[in-house]
Amino acid sequence: MKKLSDEVTFRHGATISTRTAQSPMLTNSGLDEKVTQDTIDYYNVRSQSAGMVIVEYTSVSPNGGPSRSWAPNREQLAIYNDSFIPGFKNIAESLKKDGNKAILQLVHSGREAQYRIVLGGRVEVPSKIDFPWIDYPIHELTEDEVWGIVKDFGTATKRAIESGFDGVEIHGANHYLHQEFFSAFSNTRNDYWGGDLNKRMNFAIEVAREVFKVVAEHAPKDFIVGYRISPEEIHGDNIGYNWQEAQQLLQKLTELFEFDYVHLSTNDYTSTPSDSDKNYAQLLGEAVQKPTLLLIAGGIHTVEKMEDALNYVDIVSLGRPTLIDTQIGYKIKNGQSDRILLEFNEASVNKSHLTPGLIELLANTDYFDMPGIEYLKTLTNIQLDDVVTHDGTK
Ligand SMILES: Cc1cc2nc3c(=O)[nH]c(=O)nc-3n(C[C@H](O)[C@H](O)[C@H](O)COP(=O)(O)O)c2cc1C
Repeated sequence: MKKLSDEVTFRHGATISTRTAQSPMLTNSGLDEKVTQDTIDYYNVRSQSAGMVIVEYTSVSPNGGPSRSWAPNREQLAIYNDSFIPGFKNIAESLKKDGNKAILQLVHSGREAQYRIVLGGRVEVPSKIDFPWIDYPIHELTEDEVWGIVKDFGTATKRAIESGFDGVEIHGANHYLHQEFFSAFSNTRNDYWGGDLNKRMNFAIEVAREVFKVVAEHAPKDFIVGYRISPEEIHGDNIGYNWQEAQQLLQKLTELFEFDYVHLSTNDYTSTPSDSDKNYAQLLGEAVQKPTLLLIAGGIHTVEKMEDALNYVDIVSLGRPTLIDTQIGYKIKNGQSDRILLEFNEASVNKSHLTPGLIELLANTDYFDMPGIEYLKTLTNIQLDDVVTHDGTK
């Protein structure tokens, strides 16, 4: 019987102190895409947050971000050249100081990188499709440009190693470039990178190949490599991919490469597809080849739910709960799980060092609702629409 307080050892030898991970969450704190003091303060108090902390999505290419950003000092972080390394060294050191593992999530944000236009770049996509919600110019990547991005994931991995991270997570979820290539809805190409299901898998496979090559050459033996995926992509009648296709991708990735873990991104860890009684963790877990471990995030907000989720996965991934309580891992390890803080209030927020950009994001986005969100709203009166961007425009 799995317990939250168990140590877990990954296939390449790294051990984490509990069956918990902090889910990757943007802190909305970058300036010129670089780590700021706000970013450092936030991670510095999270060294006991979970057995491993997966640091927010960080773009690997100049046009790989920023997404979701809306003002200076509110940007997604990047690691596309060496000047970014000192900031990440600081984060890795902060997170590891109590023995926990630090993982960096690597992403190319694809069509979601719209803030790049404000910064003078372009938004890159697998296929130039006129989606109704896209009101900015997009650039369809050439075959060679895609190979360039594959290489960027490798050099970003090398920089993560140089920065002192214990591992990297390839972000294949949440509609960013990996998912856009895997989605039949977003990828209508007819070359190496698109066509049938096998070709839509090629981007994920080639990035993994490059990342594992760099890891073999430059990383310590126990370096951790994970892959994050959304279990399905369904927009009404338009199917990007279904869970059966996600199963095929995960089977292939974990047969070809020695992933330490696969991380499922959901809103509710108990959710099931419309055509099965089994939940996504059960279904996709069947495809993940052992000894690759399985993580899931989504609504695991109480100790009871953490324990329940262990019926389906090896490690529970906690997002918003770690914004409230920065010591969940420590409390679980030390028999204090009844003392985990469960809502935003003056006491919890004073300790949790949320960045100003994160407070504003949480307070302004209904989707992120959590107990005590009303308290966060009293800490900000900035509305997202009112914020001035880099070039002085709204
Ligand atoms: C503020 C915020 C930022 C997020 N940023 C990321 C991110 O950078 N990368 C990612 O894969 N998921 C991101 N997510 C999704 C979380 O990793 C997680 O999957 C989701 O919040 C569900 O888990 P929870 O219910 O425990 O919060 C973010 C979520 C929140 C609330």
